[in-house]
Amino acid sequence: MDAPLSLHIKTFGCQMNVYDSGRMGEILKAQGMTYEERLGEADVILINTCSIRDKAEHKVLSLLGQLKPLKEKNPKRVIGVAGCVGQRIGRQLLQRVPHLDFVVGPDGIDHVGELVDGVVKRGERCVDAKLDTDGRSYSQPLLSTAPKVAEYITVMKGCDHFCTYCIVPFVRGREKSRSIQEIVGDVERLVAQGTKEVTFLGQNINTYGKGSAETLAQLIERTHEVRGLERIRYVTSHPRDMGMDLISQFGNLEKLCPALHLPFQSGSDAVLKRMSRLYTSAEYLKKIAALREACPDIALSADVIVGFPGETDEDFEQTMTVLSEVRFSLAFLFTYSPRPGTKAYELSDDVSREVKEERLARTMKLTMEIIEEENRKRIGGIESVLVESIDKKKGRYFFGRSLHNKIVHVLNAGPACVGKVIDVEVTEANGSNLKGYYVDAERIDRVASL
Ligand code: SAH
Ligand code: SF4
Ligand code: F3S
Repeated sequence: MDAPLSLHIKTFGCQMNVYDSGRMGEILKAQGMTYEERLGEADVILINTCSIRDKAEHKVLSLLGQLKPLKEKNPKRVIGVAGCVGQRIGRQLLQRVPHLDFVVGPDGIDHVGELVDGVVKRGERCVDAKLDTDGRSYSQPLLSTAPKVAEYITVMKGCDHFCTYCIVPFVRGREKSRSIQEIVGDVERLVAQGTKEVTFLGQNINTYGKGSAETLAQLIERTHEVRGLERIRYVTSHPRDMGMDLISQFGNLEKLCPALHLPFQSGSDAVLKRMSRLYTSAEYLKKIAALREACPDIALSADVIVGFPGETDEDFEQTMTVLSEVRFSLAFLFTYSPRPGTKAYELSDDVSREVKEERLARTMKLTMEIIEEENRKRIGGIESVLVESIDKKKGRYFFGRSLHNKIVHVLNAGPACVGKVIDVEVTEANGSNLKGYYVDAERIDRVASL
C-alpha cells in the first residue's frame, strides 16, 4: 500500500474561511491523509483564499509564485486554490499558473476530496467554482472530530446586500441558511465533546433564515437551551437588520455574551449612501443607544473604511466623531480598495493613497487610545474568563476570553482550568489584552514551571 498523502492548508481571510479550511481538512483526513505542519513538506498544499481587498489577493498570488520551485522539485505534489479568489478568478488562475492543479470555490468545498483524487489518480486539472447550486436552504452538518473549547459554526452563507464596495456577494453568492434543527444538533454534539462557547458565522447573520419561518432570534433562543453550553456569540451583524428582537436578547439571555460586532463603515451619510449601506449615521447611533439600554455593559466593535470614492475631509471627520462617541472596544480599520465587478469600481478612486493612509493612521491612533483607556479601567476588576488553552509559544500562561471577547492571560491558572469559566482579577492591561490572576488559586506565576 502507498504511504498516506500529507496535507497542508494555508488559510487567508475571515473566520468563514477558517471554518471551511477545518471542514476540508476533515474531509481529506477521512480519505486517509495526514496533516503536515510544514507547508514545504506536504504532498497536497491547499491555499484557502480571500478576495476582500486587492492586498489580500496579492498575498495569494505571491504565495502561488513561491510554490513553483516546490512543484518542480516534486511534480507529484498537488497544489490547489480554494475560497474567494478561486471563485473570482479561478479559471484564469488555472490557465496562467501551470503548477496549479485545481481550484475550488466556496460552494464546492464538500467536493474537495474528489478533486484531489482526480488530480492524484488521473492527473485531471480542474475548476469547481459553481455558485448557488442548491436552493434557499442548505445543509452542512458539522464534521469536526476534535472540537475546541470555543468553536465557530457557519450557519448561513452568502450575502444579499451588495454594498457597493464589496466582493462578498459575488464570491459567496446569495444568502442561504441551514436549519435550526441541524445547527442545534451540531451544538449538542460539540458540547458533548467539551465545547463551552459557540460563535455563529454569517456574512449578514441578522437575516439568518430569510425565505423560511426561522429567525436568528429563534436560533439563539433554541441554542440557549442546550445544557452544558456556556456562551453564545454571532458575527457579522448589519445595522439595518439588527432588529429589536435581537437587541433585547442582550438584556435577557444569560449565555449571550455582551459583545456585538456592528460595522458602521463611515460616519458620513453621503458616503453611506454611495456605499448603499441603507442607514444613516443617526440611525446607527440610535441602534447603539438601544443596545446600551438593553445591556449597559455591552462591548461594541466595528469595521470602518476610509478613503471611499468622494470622501471629503468633512466626511472623514464624521467617521472620527462616531469613533470617539461610541468608544468601540475593537475596530477593524481599512483603506478602500476597488474590487473589479462591484458598483463602486465604476466610481473614480479619487482619494489619494497618501490621504487614505493619513486617515487610516488617525483612526488607528484614536481607536488605540480609546481601547487602551477602556482596558485600563478594567484593572482591579473581576473578569469572567473561559480558559481556552495554554499559550503555545511561550508556555508562560493560560489564555482565555472575557465576556467582552478580550484576550485574557491568566498567570496562575492550571491545566484543570481549561474549558472552565473562572473569575480573574485583572492586574495589567494594554491596548491588546488583559492580564491577571485566577481568584481561587494561589497568586504565583506558576505556568512557567509546568
Ligand atoms: N459581512 C460583513 C463583513 C464583510 S468583509 C459585514 O457586512 O460587515 C469585512 C470588512 O471588510 C467590511 O466590513 C468592510 O469594512 C471591509 N471591506 C469590504 N470590502 C472592502 C473594500 N473593497 N475595501 C476596503 N475594505 C473593504
Ligand atoms: Fe459585503 Fe455589505 Fe454583504 Fe457585508 S453586508 S458582506 S459588507 S455586501
Ligand atoms: Fe475574504 Fe471571502 Fe471572507 S473575500 S473576508 S474570505 S468571505
